Amino acid sequence: METADLIWQNGEFVPWAEAKTHVLSHGLHYGTGVFEGIRCYETERGPAIFRHREHLERLGKSAQLYYFELPYSQEQLRAATHELIARNGLRSCYIRPLAFRGYGEMGLYAHGAPIEVIIAVWPWGAYLGEDGKKHGIRTKVSSWRTISGDSLIPHAKASGQYLNSILAKTESANAGYDEAILLDQHGCVSEGSGENVFIVRDGVLVTPGHTSAILDGITRNSVVQIAQDIGYRVEERAIARAELYLADEVFLTGTAAELVPVRAVDDHELGEPGEITRVIQAKFEDALHGRAEEYLEWLDFVDVPAGTGEPSKVSG
Ligand SMILES: Cc1ncc(COP(=O)(O)O)c(C=O)c1O
Repeated sequence: METADLIWQNGEFVPWAEAKTHVLSHGLHYGTGVFEGIRCYETERGPAIFRHREHLERLGKSAQLYYFELPYSQEQLRAATHELIARNGLRSCYIRPLAFRGYGEMGLYAHGAPIEVIIAVWPWGAYLGEDGKKHGIRTKVSSWRTISGDSLIPHAKASGQYLNSILAKTESANAGYDEAILLDQHGCVSEGSGENVFIVRDGVLVTPGHTSAILDGITRNSVVQIAQDIGYRVEERAIARAELYLADEVFLTGTAAELVPVRAVDDHELGEPGEITRVIQAKFEDALHGRAEEYLEWLDFVDVPAGTGEPSKVSG
């Protein structure tokens, strides 16, 4: 992976190589962590974080769902992220805040283990590749079902839950596909290993609703808004597996992947990205890069002093 100079760790800016934690950290053993994936884009007005407030709010809710008390407010985390991007001299980057139970107590009721918080930023290109964004990716329906709401919390973005996504992603990659699509416990379409799913049938966009064990994707929410603003109808409902094969268009949405067309599902060819996917993708890209006036409110502009490029000294 690409690196940056500094990581924010428990209130301090530390050199990348020195951001360390104890091997008996609770989160390492039991997956007790909550995190976010956020992106900052270069715009004409400087670096801008896409829907920063919504991501920090979701982090707070994920924390609450796992009975974590975050030791920092959303405003403190926002300010730390701005300073971190500026001090690393980055114009665009991926942003990873993570809160996890640290070292101090073992066992499953370890409320004595402190909550540690880090924020890392680094340059990270399109998760499923630039070619995938242009021409579409090949997907496979996973044999692994999405975690269900009666055993874990699909609405939380929690570290341990990603073992489910990792099994699905590994299976699809080992079989030669770009991404996995998981079904829920009822056999209906749920989501990708790290993305929400949309299909287009007869000009209508359809995406699974909240009872389908999905993460409430911030990209999903943005795409629904954009589609409706353009004038498309959007339905939230259960999607049968075969509808993926019968759809006119299919695409995935997520912060890391952005909006990625799907060109095949289980070797059923859908072909090059369709018209509606392209129209929404173009508008979404405009929104990310500050080119869409109507969505400027989604951007949290980072104050980067002129000439930044060299991080200033590390403070304690
Ligand atoms: C399991 C899962 N579903 C959906 C998403 C898409 O969410 P967002 O658009 O907020 O990045 C992600 C990525 O965060 C994810 O990990």
